[in-house]
Amino acid sequence: MKKILITGGAGFIGSHLVRLFVKKYPDYKIINLDKLTYAGNLANLKDIENEPNYEFVKGDIVDEKFIHQLFVDYKFDGVIHLAAESHVDRSITNPTEFIYTNIVGTVNLLNAAKHIWKDNFKDKLFYHVSTDEVYGSLGNEGFFVETTAYDPHSPYSASKASSDHLVRAYHDTFGLPIVISNCSNNYGGYQFPEKLIPLFINNIQNNKPLPVYGKGENVRDWLYVDDHANAIDVIYHNGKIGDTYNIGGNNEWKNIDLIKVLCKTVDKLIGREEGTSERLITYVKDRAGHDLRYAIDSSKLQKELGWKPSLQFEEGIEETVAWYLNNEEWLKNVTSGDYLKYYEKQYDKR
Ligand code: NAD
Ligand code: DAU
Repeated sequence: MKKILITGGAGFIGSHLVRLFVKKYPDYKIINLDKLTYAGNLANLKDIENEPNYEFVKGDIVDEKFIHQLFVDYKFDGVIHLAAESHVDRSITNPTEFIYTNIVGTVNLLNAAKHIWKDNFKDKLFYHVSTDEVYGSLGNEGFFVETTAYDPHSPYSASKASSDHLVRAYHDTFGLPIVISNCSNNYGGYQFPEKLIPLFINNIQNNKPLPVYGKGENVRDWLYVDDHANAIDVIYHNGKIGDTYNIGGNNEWKNIDLIKVLCKTVDKLIGREEGTSERLITYVKDRAGHDLRYAIDSSKLQKELGWKPSLQFEEGIEETVAWYLNNEEWLKNVTSGDYLKYYEKQYDKR
């Protein structure tokens, strides 16, 4: 049985990926390693927690000795690394945590993989999941391709850029078999409600202000989370060792236009007069260093590996809004920690 370590599997994207791999590959043993920070929650995996090919391990990737021992004990065949501090606003208020988890944590995993595979890299793979934010910001034209120069602006994207470079360095220096993907903004169920889409759905439902940063003119390219998980599956199994693949939805939205769609959809689904929630839109101080536009060219992945997004945005966003409206218990559960305190503090500062 192949043993695959998925890090950060209790988070948003990680939980969708763990579910996909556990169900699709009964011959793989999937080990989910997660520290269960505020963003990680085992409630995200309730439906598969008793599957025989799934195991959860609680642990911190920053703990070098623990990671080393874990690799010695399990002798993983592959690693898919998603564990990270992922929220840009938090990286502005507390950058250090991002350096430890995203950079030091990644190096600990690289060292452990290198050690346990002992230069016998046949059929092994270290897959690093990264973000389009490493490429910086686009103007009104153009797309990020795999060869776009790195130009990160936030402590979050700088820490992810650094980890990408280190993963490539372990390939170039030690021959470690690696692959990297850089994906655009994901949306879907189980996303912690600090990110734009779940935060705003929750606020609309509860008649709370919708804090739009700056003029709301920043553009993001949105991809349904299961399409990201499918892309990771395709790249894990067929990607070329040492290569990078961009993943995106070809689905650009100005924040303010997306927010209006959210207002309209929530209103429709809860029986409020359509569009009335737009009155909740409140323009607030811009995010520091706010990147204007992200847009991914995923043609390499589409042409070479045959992946394409499966879901139309209109369908995906309605399904996502309905998911949050129908999962109030989950929302209560994941926000019962430090979330409210954190946000009250942020809004005080603006
Ligand atoms: P998330 O914040 O929802 O989940 C991160 C998970 O990592 C959580 O379960 C958390 O408990 C775990 N974690 C954090 N620190 C840890 C540590 N020190 N040790 C072990 N586990 C730890 O993040 P996400 O949105 O699911 O993102 C997952 C990965 O995908 C990240 O690497 C992120 O950079 C990347 N990514 C995210 C997006 C997006 O739109 N969300 C897009 C592209 C790439
Ligand atoms: O592009 C991929 C990245 O997408 C991932 O690497 C990150 O982990 C993920 O968090 C996401 O980063 P963003 O900063 O783009 O996502 P966020 O949901 O925080 O914000 C989306 C846009 O909405 C951004 O332009 C900022 C804006 N925004 C966000 C929040 C939370 C607001 O206007 N108001 C808000 O309250």
